[in-house]
Amino acid sequence: MRPYSKTQIILHWAVALLIVAQFVLHDGIAAAWRAFRRGQEVAFDPLVAAHVFGGIAILALVAWRLAIRARQGAVAPVAGTSPLMAKAMHLGHLALYAAVALAGVSGLAAWFGEVELAGELHETLKPVILVLVGGHVAAALYHQFYLKDGLMQRMSLRQR
Ligand code: HEM
Ligand code: HEM
Repeated sequence: MRPYSKTQIILHWAVALLIVAQFVLHDGIAAAWRAFRRGQEVAFDPLVAAHVFGGIAILALVAWRLAIRARQGAVAPVAGTSPLMAKAMHLGHLALYAAVALAGVSGLAAWFGEVELAGELHETLKPVILVLVGGHVAAALYHQFYLKDGLMQRMSLRQR
């Protein structure tokens, strides 16, 4: 069975890190957006620039990941996964890709297009992404420590 390639693994962890940064460092962009909606002047803030460029980088890396996945097909589930769980995993991964891509696009439309509705969608996606990533991490930990099927090694550069 074809494993995740080195490129796919690096992309997975780079996107994961960037998403964590978007959540942790959101104060600057949230304040700038409030100021914009009140019609106030929005001063330059490096945290705002980091959110905007971080978000654009996420979009580009996710597009790259999807291109690899479209070309090579999804990696098969670990041995012993029931068809129902395989379906859930597949849908979970697609939902993660969709939610993150939509966050990037709605962020761009809010910030550069000044579309307020896009800003609201962007904010609504925050709990959606949190729940999806939470479920994803819980599933990974369940495989790793309860099923002990070595799932984490599939996304690791070591022992390859
Ligand atoms: C500490 C956090 C994370 C852990 C432990 C983790 C773990 C994993 C593991 C082990 C896999 C491989 C599953 C398999 O072999 O079938 C995987 C795949 C995946 N992860 Fe994560 N992940 C984390 C964070 C994230 C985040 C933040 C995202 C958000 C985009 C994400 C999106 C994905 C996607 C979309 C796949 C499927 C890749 C594909 O087949 O196209 N992960 N993750
Ligand atoms: C794709 C990855 C992205 C993620 C995961 C993300 C995540 C977040 C989070 C967690 C917040 C804080 C929401 C709150 O508590 O108020 C936020 C706010 C914001 N982000 Fe992003 N963002 C991303 C991309 C972008 C991009 C590319 C832009 C603009 C070019 C952008 C513009 C904004 C704006 C204007 C706000 C403040 C308005 C609001 O809260 O909806 N974001 N983002």
